[in-house]
Amino acid sequence: MQFVAASPLLVGVPGAALAQALLLPKDKLPKESFSDPLTWSPEDPSRLIKDPKEAINVFDFEPVMRQNVPPAHFGYLATGVDGERTLRANREGFAKFQLRPRRLIDVSQVDTSTTILGVRYETPIILAPIGFHKAFHDEGEIAVAKAARAGNHLQILSTVSTSGVEAVTAARGAPIWFQLYATNKWDIAKALVARAEKAGCPAVAVTVDEAGGRLLETQKRLALTDERKCSDCHDRSSPEAYFSRIPMLEGLKLTWALASSTMTWDFLKRLRDITKMKILVKGILTHEDAKLAANTGIDAIIVSNHGGRSEDSGRSTIDALPEIIEAVGGRMPVLIDSGFRRGTDIVMALAMGAQGVCVGRPYIWGLGAFGQPGVERVLELLREELRVAMMQVGAPSIRHLVPAMVRRA
Ligand SMILES: Cc1cc2nc3c(=O)[nH]c(=O)nc-3n(C[C@H](O)[C@H](O)[C@H](O)COP(=O)(O)O)c2cc1C
Repeated sequence: MQFVAASPLLVGVPGAALAQALLLPKDKLPKESFSDPLTWSPEDPSRLIKDPKEAINVFDFEPVMRQNVPPAHFGYLATGVDGERTLRANREGFAKFQLRPRRLIDVSQVDTSTTILGVRYETPIILAPIGFHKAFHDEGEIAVAKAARAGNHLQILSTVSTSGVEAVTAARGAPIWFQLYATNKWDIAKALVARAEKAGCPAVAVTVDEAGGRLLETQKRLALTDERKCSDCHDRSSPEAYFSRIPMLEGLKLTWALASSTMTWDFLKRLRDITKMKILVKGILTHEDAKLAANTGIDAIIVSNHGGRSEDSGRSTIDALPEIIEAVGGRMPVLIDSGFRRGTDIVMALAMGAQGVCVGRPYIWGLGAFGQPGVERVLELLREELRVAMMQVGAPSIRHLVPAMVRRA
């Protein structure tokens, strides 16, 4: 062990240094290897915060949420697909870029407000659509909407939400966006879009990365550890029975799947004829598709790999962003999600040219850990980290975040 600890290969490797610190008695610590401060204040996943105010960063909520929710539900949130290459890549992708801090700029006042599709928002941090919030907390999407209201965030509601769009809009106290799983049945897509528009949604985000084939291995493994019977809560007697309990699908007689394996660009052209809402496409990952979206007259795109849940390409969204920004050439707003956990992550994407950043799992960690106050604190931490990161790069407002502030490492 002493040999390993003294190995020059390990110097400067936080994980290895941390492992050494935990294994060796304090009086045997080789001082020269411990310049990494994490050695002295290691993040300890077994130390659970008891109050949202104790959280130092958004990661503090995940172990608390894990303790509170059934293993199968935790698995539903945590999982990506296959061997989790894309899920990991989403976080590792940020290490491929560096920020270039600028100095001697007055950043005493930082304005994080921004305008997306003609509407001004206090912050570019958006709540990504996530299904089934009541699987994590009884108050589900309503608690999330109230937290989004407290922090003035735009919220995107999933087709498979556990509260209807009308109730969530009322709790948010302002228009929200609706995310559409179009299914393969035009009538169902049409009915969902009409209901969202009637509820006052100014925009619909059509998810295009769910063609029907995905293997949620981590979810399956965690579900095996759950001793409860899923059928006690979920009616799986038939697809129709299962789907009819989802508030947005009530009465729509969906008998097959939510996925849209037949969808092509024609679907989006057809959608344009039946709604005045702005149309976004969620799930774009290449410059080819970004160009097609712009040429099809789509109002905006969300660069997303569904948080590593739709394909295991191994490519992060932050890696894909530059080619997409270039292809779009300012013709429409580009939003992004997947793996965003830090203010610096958000600043990177905005500096590259994204207009908004959607965050997924972290606000559900807050919800599952403490309900509405947990979501509020997660969003507050992200806003605060964004403000500080903007000061660090010398950007007093969002429009001051420019591509020259980022370089490939
Ligand atoms: C549990 C879970 C459920 C999701 N449900 C939906 C959904 O219903 N519709 C959708 O378009 N995206 C859905 N997503 C994807 C998110 O909108 C978003 O793309 C992703 O969570 C962003 O990655 P992040 O979780 O790493 O922040 C879901 C993601 C998770 C983790």
